[in-house]
Amino acid sequence: MEETDRRLVTPIVVGQEDAEESNIRPLRLAEYIGQDKVKDNLEVFIRAARQRQDALDHVLLYGPPGLGKTTLANIIAAEMGANLRGTSGPAIERPGDLAAILTNLQPMDVLFIDEIHRLNRSVEEVLYPAMEDFCLDIMIGKGPSARTIRMDVPPFTLVGATTRAGRLSAPLRDRFGVISRLEYYQVEDLVTIVTRAARILNIAIEPEGAREIGRRARGTPRIANRLLKRVRDFAQVSNNNLIDRQTAQEAMDRLEVDALGLDGVDRHMLLTIMRKFGGGPVGLDTLGASISEETETIEDVYEPYLLQMGLLQRTPRGRMATAQAYEYLRQPLPAAWGGAQPGGRGLFDGPGLFDGRDLSEESEE
Ligand code: ADE
Repeated sequence: MEETDRRLVTPIVVGQEDAEESNIRPLRLAEYIGQDKVKDNLEVFIRAARQRQDALDHVLLYGPPGLGKTTLANIIAAEMGANLRGTSGPAIERPGDLAAILTNLQPMDVLFIDEIHRLNRSVEEVLYPAMEDFCLDIMIGKGPSARTIRMDVPPFTLVGATTRAGRLSAPLRDRFGVISRLEYYQVEDLVTIVTRAARILNIAIEPEGAREIGRRARGTPRIANRLLKRVRDFAQVSNNNLIDRQTAQEAMDRLEVDALGLDGVDRHMLLTIMRKFGGGPVGLDTLGASISEETETIEDVYEPYLLQMGLLQRTPRGRMATAQAYEYLRQPLPAAWGGAQPGGRGLFDGPGLFDGRDLSEESEE
């Protein structure tokens, strides 16, 4: 098992989701909390396609893991009154695999391809005419007698998901009519999501307990719901099954998820940049080797949140820890930066205040 799979706050789904998780997934757009811009636009596109009795145009969803791309694909299918067929880029190895999937679709079906940036080139080429003209060009035979025949596929909607749109080849990206970026959730939305999940799972939670989980969930619903279940365990053995603020705080402190939602790996990464590389800049490969993490995992899982929180900076020469990161982790600034000892709060001292602002409450910019 990879290190990232064991992290409590990793947003990567490990194996099959359990029954509890599928119970708390919103099934319709009206139940889906947050991502208002994406949701409002999709609502219009879905309504218009339904009025025309057309398949919805192809949709590309991108953004960090755990923000609800798969959930949205399910919702799109439900709102269109269509079936969802789900697969992933690496699972489709040969053009024939994709041809089999496409020819088995029912008209208007939604085909969800997760990690669509990992499709190989020859498979992508089958996808282009299917997306554009709902047809397949199939090669029959080999050598001089080879010829292609064209087959129709039913009108369908492709919903592709990826962590970064820039990883898609331009011809594939250009064939999506709707390209939507999912953002980290506001703390308020996460509090609503945690409260809703607690109601469905029959977990007693006070508003302040839900707030504490929401603010430590790294803007990510999957993490919020995972933290909710772990905090429930602590509440069960120590607080009569009730999640109040103190129980939530104590539980997450014990889980080493700090006031901003950073965990041991995040802190290790920032401290490594500070202690081994003088605050940076340090190249991604070097950083990955130093903390024994895949560079792709750093780019997709750890760094987007640290960037958003202003703790990490990307420069042309590599990653740098920011002055706020030094303050938050109570490390002395490098001598070259002026070298003052920051007087910031420690990791577990409180709600992560620095610069007089509470970044855990800050909206996306
Ligand atoms: N559970 C996970 N993500 C959610 C969302 N965006 N809205 C409601 N419940 C959720």
